[in-house]
Amino acid sequence: MKSARKKSYLLILLATIGIVVSCKKTNTNNGGDGGGNSGCSVVEMKPYVWTNPSRFPLATIPSDNQFTEERIALGKQLYYDARLSNNGESCNSCHKQNMGFAGDSVSTFDNGLSKPPLVNLAWYNIFMWTGRLQGTLEDVMYAEVTKRFNTDIGKINAIQDYRDKFCKYYGVSNITAQDLAKPLAQFMRVLTSSNSKYDKFVRGEGGLTDYEMKGYDIFFSEKGDCFHCHAAVVLTDDMMHNNGIDSVYAKDIDKGYYNVTHSEYDLGKFKTPNLRNVALRTEFMHDGRFKTLMDVVNFYDHGVHIHVPSIDPIMTKPAKLNGGLHLSEEEKAELIAFLNTFTDTTMTNNPYFKQ
Ligand code: HEC
Ligand code: HEC
Repeated sequence: MKSARKKSYLLILLATIGIVVSCKKTNTNNGGDGGGNSGCSVVEMKPYVWTNPSRFPLATIPSDNQFTEERIALGKQLYYDARLSNNGESCNSCHKQNMGFAGDSVSTFDNGLSKPPLVNLAWYNIFMWTGRLQGTLEDVMYAEVTKRFNTDIGKINAIQDYRDKFCKYYGVSNITAQDLAKPLAQFMRVLTSSNSKYDKFVRGEGGLTDYEMKGYDIFFSEKGDCFHCHAAVVLTDDMMHNNGIDSVYAKDIDKGYYNVTHSEYDLGKFKTPNLRNVALRTEFMHDGRFKTLMDVVNFYDHGVHIHVPSIDPIMTKPAKLNGGLHLSEEEKAELIAFLNTFTDTTMTNNPYFKQ
């Protein structure tokens, strides 16, 4: 009798703990502010229907930050809001829509790294030139808010508009850096480009000129060998490579992935950049050393440093050992004409992304 009662007490106790734990869990799923979310419950929102562009691999969309139109709009508002920083900068100060959300000069804050394009990030697992961030876009945005901007959370919480929106869209009354990262990550995810001339060609909706087609053949054959790293259709393989840009690594940033792993094997390796809208950029490579696409093509043609230990094997194939690719001036121009087909004005003019 006694032990039966003890048992039922135990059961009640366990059930109570269960309820407390599951309540806590719901709270965190809503965004969790650690300081109580009194009076805040998520309102009904307009779902945003993610359509994976045809011929693209499936993007991973995290289940704990469901897409809605309201959340994306909030992310866009934060993106363009200089109050996130303490020096008058917004994300838009460095990543400009008319350049495919890349920038036109190197960043001193980032030790002289250039400003990469924010496009098709939904297909990335590795971020930043040196691959120093890996994981979800929510993780990357958390780093941008806390490390780059060192956002004054008190200041953000004092803005009634943001208090109202975070309350309604995420159920939080006390906004944290983690909360800011969520809508920002949604806005980053919808910055997709899939309607360039190249995409239309891939989908069979329009041809390339003969000239561009010759460039296509160089890019996607052993002649240029570009496609191994700038892989179709995202135009990056999301991996780290040493493409032979340096033989000595003068600055720390030139050491690339070595900064993350401290392994000699990773010296000079960089995340393969996405070539979408590449023709809209004004400087190329991690430190912006090249100013034209012809500089880049000349580098691949005859400037690759092949005698470095961590060089990618693709750069040292037998045909390349005797002075490089040996492209004629005509072929270089064809290759550049093809790189121009990655320009997607549907994206760079899209009013949905504008302030
Ligand atoms: C001062 C200029 C500057 C500002 C402001 C800025 N960025 Fe960046 N951003 C950069 C640079 C430079 C890099 C590359 C840094 C690196 O590789 O270490 C970068 C990298 C990124 C990346 C990774 C892209 C990739 O290809 O891996 C994302 C995403 C990003 N920024 C989004 C944002 C967002 C969102 C904001 C606002 C919260 C922002 N940035 C504000 C300069 C800036
Ligand atoms: C072994 C992999 C690999 C191959 C092959 C390769 N690339 Fe790259 N590419 C990279 C990496 C890595 C970078 C960044 C290096 C850096 O920033 O120092 C890069 C940078 C670039 C850039 C600059 C992009 C920017 O945003 O700054 C362009 C343009 C480019 N490559 C075009 C090409 C072309 C054209 C070919 C073929 C002739 C080619 N690549 C072959 C890996 C590769």
